[in-house]
Formats: sequence, C-alpha cells, structure tokens
Amino acid sequence: MKGVHHLVSILDLDPEEIYQIVEDAISLKQTRDDGLHISDLQQKSLAMIFEKPSTRTRVSFEVAMTELGGHALYLNWNDLQLGRGEPLSDTARVLSSYVHAIMIRSRKHETILELAKYATVPVINGLSDLEHPCQILADLTTIKEFKGGFEGLKFAWIGDGNNVCNSAILASALVGMEIGVATPPGYEPDFEIINRAIELGGKIIFTNNPSEAAEGADVLYTDVWVSMGDDDEREKRMRDFAGYQIDENLLDLTNKNSIVMHCLPAHRGEEITDGVIEGPHSVIFTQAENRLHAQKALLLKVMG
Ligand code: CP
Ligand code: NVA
Repeated sequence: MKGVHHLVSILDLDPEEIYQIVEDAISLKQTRDDGLHISDLQQKSLAMIFEKPSTRTRVSFEVAMTELGGHALYLNWNDLQLGRGEPLSDTARVLSSYVHAIMIRSRKHETILELAKYATVPVINGLSDLEHPCQILADLTTIKEFKGGFEGLKFAWIGDGNNVCNSAILASALVGMEIGVATPPGYEPDFEIINRAIELGGKIIFTNNPSEAAEGADVLYTDVWVSMGDDDEREKRMRDFAGYQIDENLLDLTNKNSIVMHCLPAHRGEEITDGVIEGPHSVIFTQAENRLHAQKALLLKVMG
C-alpha cells in the first residue's frame, strides 16, 4: 500500500501484506485468549458508514476498536446529511478531519471509490456490490489456521458469483490457491475481476457443475443466493440456483479433511443444509469469529 492505506479491493494489499495480516490476526487471537490487551489505537476513532444492514461487520469492527483502545462510530447513511443529499466528497473531507479511518458498507462500489478519492484517512470497504475484502482476510486467516497455508490448496466456490466470490477469486490468485467456481449460467463472477485474477497468474476453473468444482476440494465455500439488493429477484433465483446447494452429497466429493465455509448470514435449506453447517467439516463459526481478529490486524496496519 502506498500513501493513504485504503482497502477498497483486496488487491490494495500485496501477498506479503496479506500474509502479515493473517499472521497478526492469529497472534492477536492468542493475545485475546490469554486475556492480554493491546491498546495501540488509543485516542483513535473509526467512522463506520452503513448503507446496508450488518451483524458481523458492524459488531466486529466496533469491538475491535474498543479492544484496541479506540472508538468506533456507527453511522447509518440515512441518519447522516448524506441521506439528504450532502455530497460524498464533502462528507469525506469533513469526516477525515475528525476520525482516523472510515469503514463503509455501500450499495455501489463506486461510492467507496468516490469516498476514497476525497478522504485523507484510510477508507476500508466493509462490503460493496463488487467486493468484500474484510471477509476474505478473515477467511484466509481461517484457512491458514485449519490448513496451515494456501499454496496448492483447492478452493471450491458453489453458488452465486457475487461480491464475496469476486474477492475470493482475487485473493486465491494472490496467495496461490487454485479456485473452481460453479455458478448457474448468468450468475458468473465479474468479468473484469476474472481477467485481473488471470493476469495475476490465478488458476481458475469455471463450470456450471457443482460436482466438478467440489471434486477433491480442500475448501468448500458458499454464500446466500439472494444478496442484499437482489431481493426483487428472489423467486427467480430460487429456481435458478436449485441444484447448487452444499449438502452431504457434495461434501462427500471433497477431500477427507476438507473445511466448509460460509461468510454468513446463511439460509439453511437454500445454499447449504443445516447438517453441513452443524457438521464436523464446518469451520463457519470460527470463520465468523476471525472477522474480529483479522480486522484488528488490518486496523493496526492502516491506523497504528
Ligand atoms: N459476513 C458479513 O459481512 O456479515 P454481516 O452482513 O452480518 O456484516
Ligand atoms: N453476498 C452477501 C454477503 C453478505 C455478507 C450480500 O452481499 O448480501
């Protein structure tokens, strides 16, 4: 990262920075388990702008700031003057004079790019329609914990080629995981993201067949079929995604010691069965916990 340390895309981090964040996250997790405290962000504030709902991102960032000695402000888009038409460029400059970093969850990726253009403090993407880089940092931390590393692993994405999938494709290319992406026709990941991952040397297989992606996989990953903002398409999506569920049969095709991941929130009985979420391969709740540790590592990097 150069200049202000924005994290708009996972590509704003190079592989060494990602490995460092993952190492730091694992070490911060141990520190917390040991009951020790790090207060390097004392007197620092994080603004958190939300244009969409959140459980994990909101709470993990807020707790991370508290535990690091700083403070987080939850700012609902519509409660800010933004909701009444104040330009984002003005908001970016004003907030930059009060806080030390801004996290934003927005409907459109362009909003985050615009904020980052005018902010003079780091801007962190807490999910857009295109990417979810903070999720992927926690996911990589989880993979490192359970699999020991990344190189040579086979990652299978089953379902919608959405924001989390886009970040997973880019991250896989950065850390040397092979990725198989199984989506229904018409739900493929973003074309420019795919090209960028291929330019980075990513090994990616696209298929409409979930079994092909899952065969021999070390990591089996899915996300909701209806993302925030896609609610009008719910009925059509339910039809189109039939057959793309992670169930016990699909899991049987993966490696013996495979792990099952989901960024949550999950819709049991749609993209994944209750049995798989609660089963022995699932690392889903550790993955959710790791949002806290990975984001602490990120905040220390960009604000410390
Ligand atoms: N995974 C994730 O970002 O969850 P929230 O929408 O609850 O923040
Ligand atoms: N793809 C989902 C992820 C939620 C964390 C969404 O955008 O709603």
